[in-house]
Parts: sequence; structure tokens; C-alpha cells
Amino acid sequence: MAPRLTVCDHPLIQDKLACLRDKHTRPDDFRLLLSEVSALMAYEVMRGLRTRKSMVQTPLRSASAQYLAQPIACVAVLRAGLGMLQGVLTVVPKSSIGHIGLYRNEQTLNPIRYYVRLPKDISDCFVVLCDPMLATGGSSIEAIRILKTDGARQIALMTLLCAKAGVCRVEQTYPDVPIYTAAVDAQLNKSGFIVPGLGDAGDRLFAT
Ligand code: PRP
Repeated sequence: MAPRLTVCDHPLIQDKLACLRDKHTRPDDFRLLLSEVSALMAYEVMRGLRTRKSMVQTPLRSASAQYLAQPIACVAVLRAGLGMLQGVLTVVPKSSIGHIGLYRNEQTLNPIRYYVRLPKDISDCFVVLCDPMLATGGSSIEAIRILKTDGARQIALMTLLCAKAGVCRVEQTYPDVPIYTAAVDAQLNKSGFIVPGLGDAGDRLFAT
């Protein structure tokens, strides 16, 4: 079984995270960096994919081979998860795509659902749930609940940055869902922002 929390500490990932945290990084660079770091993280997230042993004919002779044995679905939590989608798709272009629209109520910090559209065959898929920020954990818990209600059986949560408290909440609620991140920050402020974090990922992506 995959560990419940994996911090992806590869130097390329950490370098891009540093640039994403930088308040001087402009939206166009932020979009590119988030996409690039998502592609790099996707390798680690999909380590648990099942493969099927087979043979392949090379120009010289036959060789044993492994092919992916299950479909992949990438599900973005709107809005900020959209910034991860393209990067993941560069690694697995055949994956199907889903969208879960959630925003946090600014007072209660509870997630409000406004849109859900998921692939038909989600119960057969390895589902990569993409949201760059895991703060209180409320949005991730709601997104996982929506996926499971729709039949998803194998889910990996891919985030860029987490707050410690939010990770604990998600792990306690869904111990079967592994979490992948580039860093775990210690604090959440009163407004529910990860500190030091990188600000509001959605606003930085879309310059809102
Ligand atoms: C942010 C972020 C996560 C959520 C994390 O989205 O992208 O989805 O907050 O917070 P939580 O762990 O406390 O639930 P936001 O609600 O700001 O919406 P947006 O992506 O549309 O900006």
C-alpha cells in the first residue's frame, strides 16, 4: 500500500515550488511553472498504476514489456486545479478528464459545490485528483466524497502545498487516499490561507 503522505522532494520540483511561492512571479510564469511541476509530480503520483505483462516485437527480437492496465482520470478541482491539468496530461494524454467546482465560503471556510462533471467509467479508473492547495482540507474531503459517491475506487490526491492540519483531517477522513505534495507548511492563518504558502493559487493563476 502507498504511504498516506508523500512529499515529492526532487530538486526540480522544489526549484519550481520556490518560484511559485515568490510573490514577484507573474501570472504567465505562474501558469507555466504550475503546469511543469504537475507533470513532474505526476510520475510519483502514478507509481501505483497497475501494469499488464506482455511481449513486444522490437526491430531485433521479442522483449518482455509492461503496458498500463487501467484507465486514468484526471479530475481538477476548480478553479486552481485547472492549472495542474495540462501538466498531468502531457504525461498521460489519453486520460479522461473530470471537473469538480468548489469554492470556500469566506466566513465559514466550508466548501460550496457549484459544478460536477465526471468521466463515465470512473469506477475503473486510477483517479488523480488535482488541487494545488490543501488548507483546512475541507475542499479535498468534499471532492473525494463526490468521487466516491460516483463510484471511484482508487483515488490519489495531488496537491502542491499542504497545511499540516488539513493533511491530518484528510488522512483521518479518507485513510485509503494517498496524498502527494511538494511541501507541508506549518500554519493556517485566520482567513484559512496556508502560511507561508504562496497566496491564493486561483487568483495568481487567473490574475483575479
Ligand atoms: C482554494 C484551493 C482549494 C481550497 C483549499 O480554492 O484551490 O480548492 O481553497 O482550501 P481548503 O483546504 O481549506 O478547503 P478556493 O476556494 O479559493 O477557490 P478557487 O480555486 O476558485 O480560487
